[in-house]
Amino acid sequence: MSSTTGKVIKCRAAVAWEAGKPLVIEEVEVAPPQAMEVRLKILYTALCHTDVFFWEAKGQNPLFPRIFGHEAGGIVESVGEGVTDLAPGDHVLPVFTGECKECAHCLSEESNMCDLLRINTDRGVMINDGKSRFSINGKPIYHFVGTSTFSEYTVVHSGCVAKINPLAPLNVVCILSCGISTGLGATLNVAKPTKGSTVAVFGLGAVGLAAAEGARIAGASRIIGVDLNPKRFHEAKKFGVNEFVNPKDYNKPVQEVISEMTNGGVDRSIECVGNIDAMISAFECVRDGWGVAVLVGVPYKDATFKTHPVNFLNERTLKGTFFGNYKPRSDLPAVVEMYMNKELELEKFITHEVPFSEINKAFDYMLQGDSLRCVIRMDG
Ligand SMILES: NC(=O)c1ccc[n+]([C@@H]2O[C@H](COP(=O)([O-])OP(=O)(O)OC[C@H]3O[C@@H](n4cnc5c(N)ncnc54)[C@H](O)[C@@H]3O)[C@@H](O)[C@H]2O)c1
Ligand SMILES: [Zn+2]
Ligand SMILES: [Zn+2]
Repeated sequence: MSSTTGKVIKCRAAVAWEAGKPLVIEEVEVAPPQAMEVRLKILYTALCHTDVFFWEAKGQNPLFPRIFGHEAGGIVESVGEGVTDLAPGDHVLPVFTGECKECAHCLSEESNMCDLLRINTDRGVMINDGKSRFSINGKPIYHFVGTSTFSEYTVVHSGCVAKINPLAPLNVVCILSCGISTGLGATLNVAKPTKGSTVAVFGLGAVGLAAAEGARIAGASRIIGVDLNPKRFHEAKKFGVNEFVNPKDYNKPVQEVISEMTNGGVDRSIECVGNIDAMISAFECVRDGWGVAVLVGVPYKDATFKTHPVNFLNERTLKGTFFGNYKPRSDLPAVVEMYMNKELELEKFITHEVPFSEINKAFDYMLQGDSLRCVIRMDG
């Protein structure tokens, strides 16, 4: 037991007071964890588009003041009642979606969409008592996706915490909490390309490049990157992408271009854009007979997917995935081991690093499209 167990901890947190306004480093009070919760000391956190999206709050229900952040690495400070598989000192990755290990989804080998702990972006409180564990002068500050890692200490449901190898450098593996695992898992767990196959990746942001990294690991021989932004192609070479298509360079649909390049279509394609046309192109560029397309991007509310049913009759498959089909507690430790065994390269995703006191710079890098991942050092 540490000296802080059972007590309120005062620490620094980056509070979003209003939509789109720079975060403010404040002293917050973090209550002790309740039943099935753990309190974590966050050492490193990274910025993801989803943080920026909800911070901008254009179109979603705004919930402020709030502490954002969901990609992180930390150490368990204390555990609440009933938590048996985590102990103070454990190295962990908090995850925005959880695994209760008891519901139908958790019991199924095929699903990671836990009934109890599946992502909920509207909820700003803990599920145990409907209250926040963060406050300033007694006034509650809301949580974000159950993680709120832009704080030196945070309280998380124990089902949203993956216990990992303590030798893994948290400043690197922290990026496995969200986007990188999503792209990697979309390829390795869902698209499952075989050695020597041809894979198209639509969208070469962090998620798409992680999907390309998965294709490289699987031994794909041709990895075709598709993006509207030619600046992305240079970076993508480091991720094994060896051919590039910019849809803007052609006056016919990109699926036709890819189909011609590959004599009938790619074996696998992974869509990591979030645009409905890219989703349709990703499906229509796979080969008859065995082609599989996997949708990862999150589309706009009113989008509808349209394609000719004959594409399915011609034995193509369309799939989608959430968090790369990884069950956070059961599967993430092994992804960390892939990095430790040098099968998975993570450093190349980390383009920037800033101290916590300069967290707003991480937002600037992302908004300017300069960064893949910016890691934020909590002790700075
Ligand atoms: N399913 C999940 O579990 C999950 C998890 C995390 C993120 N996502 C989603 O994955 C998507 C990608 O995330 P990211 O962080 O890599 O985004 P990003 O914005 O960094 O990358 C998207 C890329 O797509 C390119 N692009 C835009 N329109 C295009 C088009 N029509 N054709 C080809 N390329 C196009 C952009 O130039 C950009 O390089 C987002 O929609 C995000 O919400 C899904
Ligand atoms: Zn569950
Ligand atoms: Zn994310």
